[in-house]
Amino acid sequence: MKTANQSLKPVTTKINDKSHIEIGGCDLVELAQQYGTPLYVFDEKTIRTIAREYKDAFKSYPKVSMLYASKAFMTKAIVRILDEEGFGFDMVSGGEIYTAHSAGADMKKCLFNGNNKSYDELQMAVELGVGLVSVDNFLELALLNEVAKSNGKTIDILLRVTPGIECHTHEYIQTGHLDSKFGFDLTQVDDAVELIVDEYKNLNLVGLHAHIGSQIFETSIYYDEVEVLLKEIGRIKEKFSLNLTHINLGGGLGIKYTEDDCPPSINEIADKIISSIKENSTKYNVDEPEIHIEPGRSIIGTSGVTLYTVGSSKQVPNGKKYVAVDGGMADNPRPSLYQAVYTAEVANRPWDEPVETVTIAGRFCESGDILIKDVKMPELKEGDILCFYDTGAYGYSMSSNYNRVLKPAAVLVNNSQSDIIIDRESYEHLVASDRIPDRLKV
Ligand code: LLP
Repeated sequence: MKTANQSLKPVTTKINDKSHIEIGGCDLVELAQQYGTPLYVFDEKTIRTIAREYKDAFKSYPKVSMLYASKAFMTKAIVRILDEEGFGFDMVSGGEIYTAHSAGADMKKCLFNGNNKSYDELQMAVELGVGLVSVDNFLELALLNEVAKSNGKTIDILLRVTPGIECHTHEYIQTGHLDSKFGFDLTQVDDAVELIVDEYKNLNLVGLHAHIGSQIFETSIYYDEVEVLLKEIGRIKEKFSLNLTHINLGGGLGIKYTEDDCPPSINEIADKIISSIKENSTKYNVDEPEIHIEPGRSIIGTSGVTLYTVGSSKQVPNGKKYVAVDGGMADNPRPSLYQAVYTAEVANRPWDEPVETVTIAGRFCESGDILIKDVKMPELKEGDILCFYDTGAYGYSMSSNYNRVLKPAAVLVNNSQSDIIIDRESYEHLVASDRIPDRLKV
């Protein structure tokens, strides 16, 4: 069965009787008029559909918890939706912990992860009752034990390990291979376990955590990841007589950014994971563990689109044509960072045939600010509204104020209703943290 991460567009996308693209029952051209552009639009139905597809895919394995990887895109409204769907949150900073907590997430279901958590962040996690901490390194073991002790608590932890598995994705978003800044490599695990058992009495080791990378299309890699973790758990059981009950497999499932992308379905991934658990828990003589899955991109990527307005265009002497839009690398740094490729359509004229090859450029002062290179589009005119699909993940969350351009607004659409979930920044916002020393004041 196809799942929504395998579609290019949000599940509610259609062309309405005005011949405009519509998502969540909302006409994108009208949204652009009402809220301005650039505008991030998130489809609640798609988010909930994918969240349910994850839960359904693992129905046959009852010991599973879903944690949404907040880094992909987190606002209070997104926390509310995924909390309602029964998800916890994978969080990597005080800011993500604060957002989850202030939006009413069930903190017991949440996990704090990251390779250089500060003392204050660990303190915040412990105070706010975050259920699990994935400890990344030796320094953090000591810090967290100190924090837990001073709060009179014992904290459940996972050890983040690098399983030595390489996946075929962009090198910046691979994380499970041995040369990685994240986690303990497998040769360090025994030392860490020994310290926890002998010295760190306020830490309770319950399992292992790994994440192999992002935008993954291979299913077998999840089979291998489970095997590496269960083998390690078997070894730890034998050597330390310690029963670890949890494995966290991270996120990583890919989505379809262009017609050429063929990501696997959520069911295919789930089947690989479950079969690996069944086979390898027997092979390595361990109990079938509780598993945690941490999807980010595959939940929110397809659920979000970005609307831009077409502005100037330029024909260069070699015949190439640039068409500029009112956003770019500051609201979506992925094309310039990872050479990511997107699909765009004209929201106000979706039936028009592609007639010319253009490069869609951003508005930022950098030649590398190109959103899509050499793409066949209908003839684009000033004022056209472009809809970029699959921008829901790692767009807003990695956005910046480069050139002191205001960050766009985000709206949530559902059943023909649209609601602001992030206000468009204002110039007052922009200078709110700036201070002028007295001696420089006019
Ligand atoms: N769990 C851990 C420990 C992670 O490090 C990540 C992503 C995830 C879960 C979620 O992975 P996802 O399901 O979203 O693939 N900025 C890059 C992606 C960086 C991913 C970092 N870690 C991009 O825009 O492609």
